[in-house]
Amino acid sequence: MKVSVTTLPLNELDVDLLIVPLPEDVDEAVRDQLLEDLGPELQRAMDDVGGKKDDSALIYPTEARAKRVLIVGLGKKDDADAERVRQAAASAASVAHKREATTVGFVVPVLPLDGESIGQALVEGFMLSGYRFTRYKTEQTSTFDGPQRMVLHASEKERDARRGAERGRLVAEAVCAARDLVNLSPDEKTPRLFAKAVEKSGKRYGYDVSVWNKTLIEEEKMGGLLAVNRGSQEPPVFVELTWNPEHAVNEKPIVLVGKGVMFDTGGLSLKPTKNSMDFMKADMAGAAAIVGTFEAIAKLNLQLHVVGLIPATDNRPGENAYVPGDVLHMHSGKTVEVLNTDAEGRLILADALSYAKTYRPELVIDVATLTGAQVVALGSNVAALMTNAWDGAEERLQAMTAAGKRSGDRVHPMPLDDDYKEQLDSDVADLKNVGGKEAGCITAGKFLEQFVSYPWMHMDIAGPAFLQSEKPYRPKGGTGFGVRVLTEYLRERADPRTK
Ligand code: BES
Ligand code: MN
Ligand code: ZN
Repeated sequence: MKVSVTTLPLNELDVDLLIVPLPEDVDEAVRDQLLEDLGPELQRAMDDVGGKKDDSALIYPTEARAKRVLIVGLGKKDDADAERVRQAAASAASVAHKREATTVGFVVPVLPLDGESIGQALVEGFMLSGYRFTRYKTEQTSTFDGPQRMVLHASEKERDARRGAERGRLVAEAVCAARDLVNLSPDEKTPRLFAKAVEKSGKRYGYDVSVWNKTLIEEEKMGGLLAVNRGSQEPPVFVELTWNPEHAVNEKPIVLVGKGVMFDTGGLSLKPTKNSMDFMKADMAGAAAIVGTFEAIAKLNLQLHVVGLIPATDNRPGENAYVPGDVLHMHSGKTVEVLNTDAEGRLILADALSYAKTYRPELVIDVATLTGAQVVALGSNVAALMTNAWDGAEERLQAMTAAGKRSGDRVHPMPLDDDYKEQLDSDVADLKNVGGKEAGCITAGKFLEQFVSYPWMHMDIAGPAFLQSEKPYRPKGGTGFGVRVLTEYLRERADPRTK
């Protein structure tokens, strides 16, 4: 998508579709200007829509160069946050597709929100909504390739709109890259092939990638990753991503860890197929979110030292598969009694988290499709967020929750009090890998906490990572959840002024 910003007279904008996001309580002056620029046909359409949220009208102007004008309601000005703007842009995107508009203009609305955020939200909503995963379709359903060019018309603060629009474009591209990885057929993303894809991404966007093979993983004594891998045909890999720019503002790196279970059958504790195993190609969505985030921070050239760690394997019931009752010797030295081979994510993450300590990190954040209990607790709009009681826990949760709200990847804090840990006491080992039937999302977090010794946050994205039915600007299938919130959080850390 080509994205640009212009201050040219509005009636000279030569586009297939001109989109006018309109608040209910639009300023008289703004309204009059639109009528003057685009013609009196707009009057009735603006009255009909009245700025009501989720309402819209299409007009064929006679006085402007735009072929069509679409009014989309934004609701009350004061309620119009970035997410509202994103969703309005997304609803316009579906009209753009239906009318096969190759070029699209947007009138940047005047709202009590900074111009950068508005520009970013318009581009994100539009681009994310236009995403299609067509890799495996052999027959083209249409000759229309989707909109190719987006022009934002700014009447004021053109520079802010331009910076926001550019950022929105880069972030949306990174989100779509993560979606592609999640939607890829499992046989095209075995650990080895996935590692290759990350290497390619690193070369393209300018971050470093190193891939450990099984021998190195054995030398590091990553007993969790090796156990989960035992039923598989293909060996595990451990992928390390590094972005260390010259003027990084942080002395100690921020480490991002992603769950890379390329396919989760459940292992010997086999999952049923329907509504369960049939989604499990998405069990690497945490890993995909890390890769997408690296693409975004590299493209944005964030001055922040960030390391990514992805333990990758699939989880299968092969001949040599690990079994309930196995006691594992983890990277940290702790022992874990396996009571359910389907609680595999925490085993591979535990090794990565304990290895993360070697970086003396400022902060470690893991992202994982970890539990069905997260979906029960919060559904598919919001991820679960947890942190340990290390310095600044409250501030961390708050900063991440706020970044979630701004970015549209919402996260909600869960308690991580010590009494939840009792569920993980084992008769024979230091810990067991499953708790009871209560608070499964939290006990999984509690398990991971046993392997960290630095400030840490855990994001369980089981619900939001993969959708059964589409939501505004998120299609069915992989959503790329995590890229936006992590990028926004890191962007604020790199430059607190640009919140
Ligand atoms: N990958 C699943 C979690 C999951 C469930 C992701 C639904 C996306 C949608 C994870 O490995 C798993 O199987 N968790 C078990 C843990 C249980 C055995 C303690 C679960 O949640 O059922
Ligand atoms: Mn599982
Ligand atoms: Zn899993």
